[in-house]
Amino acid sequence: MQTNVSIADGIHIIGVNDRRTQLFENIWPLPCGVSYNSYLIVDEKCALLDTVDFGSDGTYLERVEEILGGRSLDYLVVNHMEPDHSGEIGSVLRRFPDVKIVGNSLTFKILLSYFGDVSANFHEVKDCEAISLGRRTLRFYTTPWVHWPETMMTYEETEKILFSADAFGTFGTTDGAVTDDMVDIKSYEDEMRRYYSNIVGKFGGMVQKALCKLGSLEIKMICPLHGPVWKRQIAEVVGLYDKWSKGDADESVVVIYASMYNNTAQMADHVASVISQSGVKDVKVYDVSKTHLSYLISELWRCRYVVLASCAYNGDMFPLMEQLCTSISHYGLKGRSLAYFGSYSFNGGGVRSLKKFAESSGWDIICEPVDIFGRATAENLAKLEPLAEAVAQSVKNNTGGR
Ligand code: FEO
Repeated sequence: MQTNVSIADGIHIIGVNDRRTQLFENIWPLPCGVSYNSYLIVDEKCALLDTVDFGSDGTYLERVEEILGGRSLDYLVVNHMEPDHSGEIGSVLRRFPDVKIVGNSLTFKILLSYFGDVSANFHEVKDCEAISLGRRTLRFYTTPWVHWPETMMTYEETEKILFSADAFGTFGTTDGAVTDDMVDIKSYEDEMRRYYSNIVGKFGGMVQKALCKLGSLEIKMICPLHGPVWKRQIAEVVGLYDKWSKGDADESVVVIYASMYNNTAQMADHVASVISQSGVKDVKVYDVSKTHLSYLISELWRCRYVVLASCAYNGDMFPLMEQLCTSISHYGLKGRSLAYFGSYSFNGGGVRSLKKFAESSGWDIICEPVDIFGRATAENLAKLEPLAEAVAQSVKNNTGGR
């Protein structure tokens, strides 16, 4: 658990650090853990904003009660129904049976399916509607598909705080510091991008709509449901979300290969070496069998230039490369430049199936693919050099040789 921390007068974060769960959503590795943030506002009326994952912290309700100091809870605002935040709604309802649950019609549809008929507790709000807590007013903005269809954000008008649901969140626990006064966004950026690309990345268009909708609000603090509270680096986190949701990328190259017996791996290294020796500064190489898909997706979000390489496998591309290509199609990532190659020992198939992916991706194809028969001999490596040089030239054309 985290210690209860006051982030503004009468506003508390009741966060939970989860270092135990191995896989977020039972799919995404959590080497740095994750936090689930819940917020409690104490005013003439008291409001809890979202809860935490069920069972992530047995002291959650006690900590809410400790801050309330014997008062009752008037409102439970549900910005997002995914169970990492709605998990403790049942416990809150049992402890405060008269609490009004604030949400929109879609929130309630999901809530009924999770918690049974609790409609007597519902307080439905429409887009831009507000409730008064006394000194403070909470206004609600629907932001569908950032990350689920019911997702909304809550704006506290007195201190200009945006409770942003999943948006601006990140993997990684908050280690001591829950606000960004004491941490640099750089220490979170990779995990924030991995979180964004894998969890929210499919909905970039809806993120853009939300940024546009909230663009006129003065925001002095962003309180997401994962990771630090942003006070000092608001422009930076909003800038990153804007960049990622538009599909903008760095002028960097990522080479991802699938190799059974190290031939395609050696070819990928040679391609990376030629690109690098041509003056391109940021080139990264990954083995699809070694690096988890979520990190590869994150790198694809970061890098504008992509080189994919696959050995042939049963007349097709390697299964894990196929999984990566399927994921890219699923996320609908746009605006990348692609080169691809492969190797084979008899009938081939890696390049043939990569070609199908390339044609459906909508990405710029930098050059013709190369399909190598046999081992990574010097002669065969030389056949890949025009492809590597074309990738390097493509970077230089875009950066003016910087
Ligand atoms: Fe952190 Fe979409 O839940």
